Amino acid sequence: MNTVKVLSDISVAVIGLGYVGLPVAVALARKYPTIGFDIDARRVSTLRNGIDWTGAISQEELVASKLEFQSDPTALADSNFFVVAVPTPLTTGNRPDFSMLESTCKLLGAVLKPGATIVFESTVFPGATEEICGPALEKASGLKCGVDFKLAYSPERINPGDKERQLEAIIKIVSAQDEESLELVAGVYGAIIDAGIYRASSIKVAEAAKVLENTQRDINIALMNEMSKICGLIGIRMADVLKAAGTKWNFLQFTPGLVGGHCIGVDPYYLTAKAEQLGYHPEVILAGRRINDSMPAYLASQIVLKLAVQGMPIRDARVGILGITYKEGVPDIRNSKVVDLYEALATYGIKPRVADPRADVEETRHEHGIELEDCADWSGLDVLILAVPHPEYSEAIQDQINRSVRDGGIFVDIKSIVNSNALRSDLIYLSL
Ligand SMILES: NC(=O)c1ccc[n+]([C@@H]2O[C@H](COP(=O)([O-])OP(=O)(O)OC[C@H]3O[C@@H](n4cnc5c(N)ncnc54)[C@H](O)[C@@H]3O)[C@@H](O)[C@H]2O)c1
Repeated sequence: MNTVKVLSDISVAVIGLGYVGLPVAVALARKYPTIGFDIDARRVSTLRNGIDWTGAISQEELVASKLEFQSDPTALADSNFFVVAVPTPLTTGNRPDFSMLESTCKLLGAVLKPGATIVFESTVFPGATEEICGPALEKASGLKCGVDFKLAYSPERINPGDKERQLEAIIKIVSAQDEESLELVAGVYGAIIDAGIYRASSIKVAEAAKVLENTQRDINIALMNEMSKICGLIGIRMADVLKAAGTKWNFLQFTPGLVGGHCIGVDPYYLTAKAEQLGYHPEVILAGRRINDSMPAYLASQIVLKLAVQGMPIRDARVGILGITYKEGVPDIRNSKVVDLYEALATYGIKPRVADPRADVEETRHEHGIELEDCADWSGLDVLILAVPHPEYSEAIQDQINRSVRDGGIFVDIKSIVNSNALRSDLIYLSL
């Protein structure tokens, strides 16, 4: 139970109501008058109707919340504590794309009043809050950064789809440009976070901590992916190797897989961009990125090789993919590496069928030109790929395999979650 005192005279506005912003806004609205602002009017109107399409907040919670939803920036005029959670994606050349952060600063600059605090939660490289956001806010508002308004940074660590580690249960790092604003920010978040507040020594330290957390995961997964390729050449199963190595007390529990989404595969490029700006060319971080990005094409080549070795036709092979989202348990299809796998298979003349119980049919068609199907109807497949092990598949997978894969067909278990000993003996099993 959180016993930290709630500060008075705080009027919050959360900018960007996505996977990060909405849970923060709902939590802050329990303690402070809070506006949830998004430029996407459709997002705002569905939230007003109690629907959160990210699945992070239930309809019950949304309806009960005092959070006020707005898409009109003039509604922000009376706020004095802003939390910014807009996307920080990559350009097509894998460079940081600050355009949404910059347009947010422009929009905030028009409503900012002296005494305001602006906390950035969007993931950025070390230095971006003070070197990019501060000047952009000054330019748009005519106010002086550090005098008329204060900058702060608090990285978000939520893990979409994880119902155990919710916002309140994760230690919150806070940082600000001076002691007074640091205490203010620590106080505001302190009222909603049960796990505790960590005061970083500077904004740059907090920014760097966030990108390091995700870069560390990326590198560790890359190591597992590289080892998986080596195991494939040796002719042993990576899952068996991991089981054996995992008996050592200090072995880290990482597994091979496709690294998609907007964090682990993106944040390292923010860090490397900053390093390059400073004349340092990172080697390990970029090597990890290359390995992880190579996995969809590698998997496609392994599947095609198995088809060829079994004497099955490659062109027009009947392939079914279970799961298109970037990871299990979420509806988010953006930057999913399963799409890359689909496209890699297409280069061999294969047009896979795809099913996903969580992804939106319309959005998948619109974003990727992929028509989602009901996998209950699948039969006679040469290859079935369990790409994203959504909870919906955990019980039903053996039935699904038995129903849909033909005799002597191939079952691809990307994340090695199925007990291969329990599979039909005629099937060929492939995993990372
Ligand atoms: N999703 C995660 O797991 C996660 C975890 C930690 C950190 N982050 C970081 O948090 C930030 C937000 O990520 P997300 O996943 O919540 O993004 P998201 O795409 O789910 O949501 C962002 C929202 O911001 C809105 N938006 C865009 N530009 C805007 C503007 N100018 N003004 C107001 N609203 C605007 C969009 O309409 C969207 O609703 C990113 O920097 C991301 O790297 C994400």
